[in-house]
Amino acid sequence: MTLLLGDTVPDFKADTTTGPISFHEWIGEDWAFFFSHPADFTPVCTTEMGRTAQLADQFAARRVKPIGLSTDSVEEHLRWIEDVNDTQNTTLRFPIVADPDFEIAKLYEMIHPGESRTAAVRSVFIIDPDKKLRLSMTYPMSVGRNFDEILRAIDALQTGDAKGVALPADWRPGERAIIPPSVTNADANVKFPQGFEEIRPYLRTVDIDAA
Ligand code: BEZ
Repeated sequence: MTLLLGDTVPDFKADTTTGPISFHEWIGEDWAFFFSHPADFTPVCTTEMGRTAQLADQFAARRVKPIGLSTDSVEEHLRWIEDVNDTQNTTLRFPIVADPDFEIAKLYEMIHPGESRTAAVRSVFIIDPDKKLRLSMTYPMSVGRNFDEILRAIDALQTGDAKGVALPADWRPGERAIIPPSVTNADANVKFPQGFEEIRPYLRTVDIDAA
């Protein structure tokens, strides 16, 4: 089953480094940043785990819970976390799912046989409180993810939801947003009383912080 944007993500029960979870229940009313790794005790993964732990306050400010996965056991994860903390100068507190039988990795199509038959690639799933998949990214085993982009994309998703706008290339909070083509000018005048700029009939921008 290919997981598409807007789909309800598959639920699962699993052991993690912070105890057993039922995934949907664990997400609760928050968002989730579910990300997979090839293996414990590998260099790129160690930096990514450390970066996620260092950004704990940034994720919490957005009501996003990080949760990792690699196809190793809880015992291996726990020993590896000690190394992550030592080498990345952090304290990793979020759960890492144990998936030694590849059940969850297969469910989420994290195993790409062209990369490895047993290790998960670097998948990212941003999941909203309705348990809908809102964004996915897939990186190869050899390339670490960009966490600035992960936080930026979360900001863009949450801003789009809150304000009914789309966000342009390289958008950052505080910058102008785009009025979706589905909104007529008449409706835009009501929705955005601060006014908007019509660069082209299909390209209208608005200062969402001026409202
Ligand atoms: C790593 O995390 O460093 C890594 C894992 C598998 C293949 C290549 C790199």
